[in-house]
Amino acid sequence: MIDHDYSRRSLLKQAGAAVTALIPTMAAAHAVCKPPFPAAAKDTADRRVRETWWVSADPHVGYPEYDEYLRTSVQDVNHIESDYAIVLGDIFEDDRSFLPQFLEEIGGLKHDWTYVLGNHDYDRKSERNSGAPILPVNYFSRQIGCVRIIALSDEMLEYQSHVTELGRNQDRWFKDVLDDAPDVPTIIMTHHCPLTGRRSVSAFEEWLADDIERYNIVLWIVGHAHRWAIDEDLEGFGFDRIKVASLCRKHGDTRPCESALLTIEAGQDRARITMRFRNHLRREWIKVLGREAYELEVKA
Ligand SMILES: [Fe+2]
Repeated sequence: MIDHDYSRRSLLKQAGAAVTALIPTMAAAHAVCKPPFPAAAKDTADRRVRETWWVSADPHVGYPEYDEYLRTSVQDVNHIESDYAIVLGDIFEDDRSFLPQFLEEIGGLKHDWTYVLGNHDYDRKSERNSGAPILPVNYFSRQIGCVRIIALSDEMLEYQSHVTELGRNQDRWFKDVLDDAPDVPTIIMTHHCPLTGRRSVSAFEEWLADDIERYNIVLWIVGHAHRWAIDEDLEGFGFDRIKVASLCRKHGDTRPCESALLTIEAGQDRARITMRFRNHLRREWIKVLGREAYELEVKA
């Protein structure tokens, strides 16, 4: 089983160079920025636990119609019982100059947060147009009771905007984590879902297409689509996929500022996974696709 120390070591190792490059820029633009490391948190595999994550996607900070939707959402989430937060990519609108604004707005959360990168989280629209990731490429594994969360970042190797592309190190890490404990009930979080229909697996090395049914993946949570979707037993793979709506208003979105609260209540051998849905502008729980909540029971 992968443990938290390993994932953090891995993160720090691969994030180090990018953060080193970022800090002088951040300091010049915004003196109070903290380095954007995801906060350390203990694995809790050895006892019964209840943990709630705020799961949001696609704030697109810097988009012309961006109206501080992230700040508004953070203010609402601070009034909800939650323990941790993750942003599932497209944090930015392709421009690193929006980094201080993002850090200030997400920094209003009363608890820690983390993220994965999506296809708009690369510096391609600033004057510099470096193509570099605006935040470090972040990936990790966390154990919550008998449930494992694996989060992966898009590394944009070829700039295909509708698939997740993992670099060699991240891809190898992902396979090692799964192979170390293939039976652990696993929630995967990415910006895109790599499953493209007709049971084909895009964008990861072929091992995932060959081996995906060896692993106990129970749920795959993604952003990118800017709309809600709940697909049970996706393409017969035996796990569900949830697409989380966007925080921003883009591509004709009529319902910005919607996201999910994921609660895991888990012991050593079974867990209940619940997602509730929230409109942060109206500060109310909402139904998604006619459902008050998504619920899943899993056994280790
Ligand atoms: Fe997006």
